[in-house]
Amino acid sequence: MKFSTKAIHTGEEPNYEINGEVVSPIHLSTTFARRDPEVPAKGYEYTRTSNPTREALEKKLASLEEARFGLAFASGLAAETSLLLSLLKKGDMILASDDLYGGTRRIFESVIKKFGVEYRTVDLTSEVSLESLEPEPRLIWIETPSNPLLKIIDIASLSRKAHKIGSMLVVDNTFATPYFQNPLKFGCDVVIHSTTKYVSGHSDTLGGATVTNNEELFEKLKFHQNAVGAVLSPFDSYMTMRGIKTLSIRMREHEKNAIRIAEYLTNRSEVERVYYPGLEDHFNHEVAKRQMKGYGGIVSFTLNLNKEKIRRFLRNLRYIALGESLGGVESLIEIPSLMTHASIPKNIRDLMGVTDNLIRLSVGIEDIDDLIEDLENAFGGI
Ligand SMILES: Cc1ncc(COP(=O)(O)O)c(C=O)c1O
Repeated sequence: MKFSTKAIHTGEEPNYEINGEVVSPIHLSTTFARRDPEVPAKGYEYTRTSNPTREALEKKLASLEEARFGLAFASGLAAETSLLLSLLKKGDMILASDDLYGGTRRIFESVIKKFGVEYRTVDLTSEVSLESLEPEPRLIWIETPSNPLLKIIDIASLSRKAHKIGSMLVVDNTFATPYFQNPLKFGCDVVIHSTTKYVSGHSDTLGGATVTNNEELFEKLKFHQNAVGAVLSPFDSYMTMRGIKTLSIRMREHEKNAIRIAEYLTNRSEVERVYYPGLEDHFNHEVAKRQMKGYGGIVSFTLNLNKEKIRRFLRNLRYIALGESLGGVESLIEIPSLMTHASIPKNIRDLMGVTDNLIRLSVGIEDIDDLIEDLENAFGGI
């Protein structure tokens, strides 16, 4: 099956023994009755452990990443925390790329550090040697494209280096989605998603996922999914599956609009710099071209305007809403330093390049002429 067919049919095959529904039903029951205390009915016991609707989604997510195993969690951060708790122990080190969603960095800094797990961040966009690192990282964690600077990291090259020193590579694939990038094919060990974003796509349901081909790792993750209990509810599993059915057409439209907006911004005098991996002058455009099938729908840019003018520009927008999150059908704009990345201290943000004049735009699938007009009017009114 090709991508769009899998997005629609995997996990939702009609059950001809019952009613033949073409849409997988929402199984709300938290518990499953059995005739024999030693034999669970059809394998289900309790919804935290497994649930037919969540399983349908997990199967769909795995198939879209061309992977063997998928697990769904209550949010992207719940998936991340479960993964970290399953893999790490006291004394372990995480090596993370320097540009990451603020909430992920917050888990490293404020949640797992107190259990004796350390982390350090490095710019992994250029060739770096991992062999001299002391202590050797147990886990390498990257986003590519990254949030919010759209940095691109060569997954195949980093996978080889990670495995050489006995580390695992985790790739957060939220920005690219499985439609534009399959990191497991390039050798990484686990893929993470915030399905809250493009995967569900309508800004109406939270969710997260881990996907892997490694059976031993999957068993560990599955154990922790149940033991920690941060699972996705049956209703949210249904909502996520509903969104996935249009993932391919949405991603094509997001990208088409994002390219137009990146080009438009490049020509505005108020714009200092545009970050979009589809632009030929992007630092790792060639790597993006090699490992991605498309460049996605997020465009970041810096403005050469003072704070008051930036606020006026944002207030002048009519369709593009000022708000956190990304990946929905509606366009959303934000200032990372004040919003999604505010939990990172200013000195570190400035070092990362997440400066106070940086804007992140999640380009929706509205008509592109309206979006350009919206930006044009907002610039015109400052
Ligand atoms: C790249 C990335 N990973 C993970 C997350 C966390 O996901 P969630 O908000 O679903 O917990 C986000 C949220 O913005 C994100 O942008």
